Amino acid sequence: MPGKLPPEFLQELLSRVDIVDVIRNQVPLKKYGREFRASCPFHTERTPSFYVSPAKQFYHCFGCGESGTAISFLMKYSNLRFMDAIEELASIAGMEIPKNRTAGPSMGNTARLIQLMEEVQAAYKRELLRSDPESHVKSYFKNRGFKQKSAMHFGIGFAPERWDFILKKFGRSESDRSLLRKAGLVIRNDKGREYDRFRNRLMFPIHDRRGRVIAFGGRVLDSSEPKYLNSPETVLFRKSNELFGLFHAAKAIKDEGKAIIVEGYTDVLSLHQSGIENAVATLGTATTSYHIRELFRATDEIVFCFDGDRPGKIAAWRAMKSALTMMYDGRLVGFVFLPKGHDPDSFVRQNGTAEFQQLISNCEPIAEFIFRQLKGSADINRADGIGKLIKDITPILTQLPDSTLRELMKNELRKITGLSEDYLKKKFAPEVSHKRQVQTKLNKHDLSNRALALLIQNPSLSQLVEQAEHLIEFRRGQNSRLLVEVLSKLKANPGLNTAALIEEYRGTELFELVRTFADLEHFVPEDGLLEEFIGIIAKIEKLGNRHTARSKISELMKESRSSLEDAAKIQELLVESRKAKTKSFS
Ligand code: CTP
Ligand code: MN
Repeated sequence: MPGKLPPEFLQELLSRVDIVDVIRNQVPLKKYGREFRASCPFHTERTPSFYVSPAKQFYHCFGCGESGTAISFLMKYSNLRFMDAIEELASIAGMEIPKNRTAGPSMGNTARLIQLMEEVQAAYKRELLRSDPESHVKSYFKNRGFKQKSAMHFGIGFAPERWDFILKKFGRSESDRSLLRKAGLVIRNDKGREYDRFRNRLMFPIHDRRGRVIAFGGRVLDSSEPKYLNSPETVLFRKSNELFGLFHAAKAIKDEGKAIIVEGYTDVLSLHQSGIENAVATLGTATTSYHIRELFRATDEIVFCFDGDRPGKIAAWRAMKSALTMMYDGRLVGFVFLPKGHDPDSFVRQNGTAEFQQLISNCEPIAEFIFRQLKGSADINRADGIGKLIKDITPILTQLPDSTLRELMKNELRKITGLSEDYLKKKFAPEVSHKRQVQTKLNKHDLSNRALALLIQNPSLSQLVEQAEHLIEFRRGQNSRLLVEVLSKLKANPGLNTAALIEEYRGTELFELVRTFADLEHFVPEDGLLEEFIGIIAKIEKLGNRHTARSKISELMKESRSSLEDAAKIQELLVESRKAKTKSFS
């Protein structure tokens, strides 16, 4: 659960990491005044409207309205969970995540689940090692040419042919069994009977990028179906987010400057055995943009290696589409189609490492692949065929960032089609940006809203206010209450920056509101901030006084002991309240 970390930790973390570095790692940023600017990574656009503010430690896109802190960025961009984003930032900042935090139920569970997964993996591994050399699993392993060393390397194991191997070992209590079900290791049928999900299968552990076991893929040892059984989606495991072998390939990918994506567990295993260690596999799903993002964090070059059949072509086309928005200058994407009937495992076995490497270095670059495919489905010797080509290529060109690749593809298109530059320019004009509506819902003239925008964007302003509690009588609307709360927080903790302040609200219903204030346009120039803020606070104080006076009057009236003394008091208060009223609107 977010918010379970000590606030001091979050604050320290968000002051140590620079959001500019975090984002620049993924998106090329250009200096723009005091801020940095880029084409938004969250929607497709021609003109950059994505801004990163080093002062606020906050990003915001004026096109699609995405905004947030370094934590939000990692959660959204890399599809990380809150704690994974925290861990990523902590490793950048060289900080340890406090262990003695008050663990919320879900956090405790995650840790327990991971521990369970690792213990289960160790048990599967022992089963494989322990099995008889003549056993069907050992023979299968040997017959396929897999070596003991690589099995150890990837932590491969064996789930014996029993319905309660895991259940017996790890499911003694109901709470243990509930954990096993959550981990996807045990299934409960309609009749309430429980049994192991994986039986009589070769077990491939799936690690997250930090090397923790989060899921399994299990292969049958004969030709029965399904050939592979994978862990279901659990709190630990999102299939379309993970790549098999990434943890083990990370170093080789960095060293080689290149990542190879293949389709199967055994392909990764086999390539690794042949000395090709920079390969990873999707988990029986299409390549997603998360996969590509993840790899582009480690390297600038990705080569997809697919079977040469029709499904392979379709998979390649989908992979290409997931890569488009990330094709900034400097990045390379290529495609390899294996000879018919081969997958990387069988190819490297039959032809050896050098020949496989040869295929990889002769891969078909993304632009060539796109044109070859498009020309294959549209006859460019006919005018209507060219029309089809243009129609097919439009979504591709509009997804590409403003890059050399895009420019050259447009040139190429001009050459093939004979269409004029003007025509193509019009055809691929930038999309009209659609500004998000949330901000307009807030009344920007409301005093608390103005104060909140200024304050959240410039937390040091809080030091100008003597006591947040002064404004206490003003606390009527939600936003006024928020103002007092934010002020108190900042007074108690002057080190909070905008990002840390926002993160204090994560998981609460005020999170969105605070985030909106962090980029609400207030039109106050930098050098007028102090004055404006003091002015607003003064007005709020007066309104508060008036309010206090009013409620005191009604209190006295209610008591209705209309002594002379009271009448005089009421008179006094009325005058005071009127004074406050005229002043606050002067
Ligand atoms: N896959 C799956 N479920 C299946 C079949 C395949 O999840 N029923 C996934 C697995 O991740 C598998 C990948 O798709 O590794 C590729 O499938 P395939 O080419 O059929 O298997 P290989 O990895 O080549 O396995 P093997 O060589 O053992 O046949
Ligand atoms: Mn295979």
